[in-house]
Amino acid sequence: MTPLDAAPFIRDNLPVHPVPGIPEIRLHKAAPESGLGRLAARDADGFGAPYWAHYWAGGLALARHVLDCPETVAGRRILDLGAGSGLVAIAAAKAGARQVIALDADPYAIAALGLNAALNGVRLDIRAGDVADLDPPAVDLILVGDLFYSAELAATVVAFLDRCGIDALIGDPWRQSLPVSRLDEITRYDVAESGSTIKSCGIFRFIACMT
Ligand SMILES: C[S@@+](CC[C@H](N)C(=O)[O-])C[C@H]1O[C@@H](n2cnc3c(N)ncnc32)[C@H](O)[C@@H]1O
Repeated sequence: MTPLDAAPFIRDNLPVHPVPGIPEIRLHKAAPESGLGRLAARDADGFGAPYWAHYWAGGLALARHVLDCPETVAGRRILDLGAGSGLVAIAAAKAGARQVIALDADPYAIAALGLNAALNGVRLDIRAGDVADLDPPAVDLILVGDLFYSAELAATVVAFLDRCGIDALIGDPWRQSLPVSRLDEITRYDVAESGSTIKSCGIFRFIACMT
């Protein structure tokens, strides 16, 4: 199996649930019986960590924030960086964004993004790409849900945001590589990333350092 036929697998094996704390949005979500291992086994070289199949605290908080404060995105062009399942991008589209680009490096996320956008009746401009190689896009706001879980990706994201100099909002549960000295905290949300474990998440504005 390749990313090309991942969509039928996701549709048939990952049940659709309302997102915890965000009942306005439903997503295909991995369950114990989904058999993601079967998907991985058939594409040993191409299958990475299936982040697109799970909830992430930073994305849950950022999606909630966008829906609670639609003026943040309404009428604006948005990039959801490392969109994963599409939760944040879908929230932005539902909150009235003019255009939403959902970008991810993982081809399986691209398949999930298409299914989840259709499921929620929103139009996303879904793009495959690596943030490391990305030119500044023609958008008004960049949304970053939970991308500071590794030092390498954090450095890449910070370099991209500096390169862009475009407004950026970040949702993150203070993961290890969160660049706190480059952020202004706006507000906090408590979210349930997995089961009943509640995490406190910040919503931050990125302070760009133009060179
Ligand atoms: C922890 S998940 C967060 C997903 C989503 N933002 C959310 O909050 O639900 C990280 C996502 O970033 C994507 N990603 C990781 N490195 C990337 C890169 N260099 N360029 C683009 N996407 C990347 C992964 O494929 C994954 O979908």
